[in-house]
Amino acid sequence: MTAADDSVFLRACRREPVPHPPVWFMRQAGRALPEYRAARADIPMLQACTSPDLIAELTLQPVRRYGVDAAIIFSDIVVPLKAIGVDLDIVAGVGPVIAKPIATSRDVDLLRPLEPADVDFLDAAVRLVTAELGATPLIGFAGAPFTLASYLIEGGPSRDLLLTKSLMYSEPELWHDLLDRLATIAIGFLRVQVGAGARAVQLFDSWAGTLSPSDYRHYVLPHSARVLSEVADLAVPRIHFGVGTGELLGLMGEAGADVVGVDWRVPLDVAASRVGPGRALQGNLDPALVFAPWEVIADRASDVIARGRSAPGHIFNLGHGVLPGTDPGVLTRLVEFVHQDAATA
Ligand code: CP3
Repeated sequence: MTAADDSVFLRACRREPVPHPPVWFMRQAGRALPEYRAARADIPMLQACTSPDLIAELTLQPVRRYGVDAAIIFSDIVVPLKAIGVDLDIVAGVGPVIAKPIATSRDVDLLRPLEPADVDFLDAAVRLVTAELGATPLIGFAGAPFTLASYLIEGGPSRDLLLTKSLMYSEPELWHDLLDRLATIAIGFLRVQVGAGARAVQLFDSWAGTLSPSDYRHYVLPHSARVLSEVADLAVPRIHFGVGTGELLGLMGEAGADVVGVDWRVPLDVAASRVGPGRALQGNLDPALVFAPWEVIADRASDVIARGRSAPGHIFNLGHGVLPGTDPGVLTRLVEFVHQDAATA
């Protein structure tokens, strides 16, 4: 038993009683913070993601600034792909860009499992961070097989994921081989982080919401379920998140999550009934809402907290990542509000 075990964040993940919902923000490290912009200055994203001291600093900045109840390791979903030799870059304002997008079985064959030595910088960073964090738990994360596949096949961000879906529908065998390999990579990436001290994991399937429930069940769920089940022995809560996944919430819970992340499109009481009993929820204030006047933010945050009580556990978050132009002062005030509003309600 460590101090982190008793944190509000881990208690809520375990569906135990808490004095107020824990709160953290997806993409809480990033351009919204002046100290982030200063620390990153001329350092390219991928270089920042492989420097243990810088990873530690960037992970800790939002904890110091906002007083959030959890940290998330500073990295990116494509870091393990780069670590096994995929030629890619993370371009500011764009996202991951793959030099030679995947199209054939020969391309897929190159995706070998991740060895811990491939990401020794991450092991070192997690140890540095957890030593500093004390009772605040650290979340480790990985990209889910579908979302990783979408970047590898499209070569970069895409609106309709046309190439991804074409491969999925026309070459199912190759598709399942690809997702199986990506699942193995995600498992390796998560196991390194938990082995070094991360106390929860989040599987980001950011673009799964582009799929119908039956396609999700057939082409994607078995692979995400394998990721979640192959980290179950680590005994840390598993959060499963995607955007636009209102119709998939039940299936995302079924995949094996302890906590299902919900974007802003579905109220949490509705999400709770879709996800079913026994799972906590995370979310779900619209990231654009923090640009509104404070009275509007407070009103909507209260509503999120009230609806979150329908679930057996609720972790307050935005429905997706912090937008770059966000006023950090508003997020600090929001954290204080979540801690106080719920305690007095
Ligand atoms: O949440 C955190 O604070 C931890 C850090 C984190 C990053 N990426 C850092 C980052 C996490 C959890 C991610 C995950 C990630 N990366 C996802 C899943 C989460 C989501 O938002 O849906 C996805 C889809 C990616 C791929 C990716 N990487 C995108 C879409 C972008 C944004 C492009 C841009 O510049 O707008 C990136 C780059 C990235 N990852 C940045 C950060 C802080 C911005 C890089 C910079 O500051 O130059």
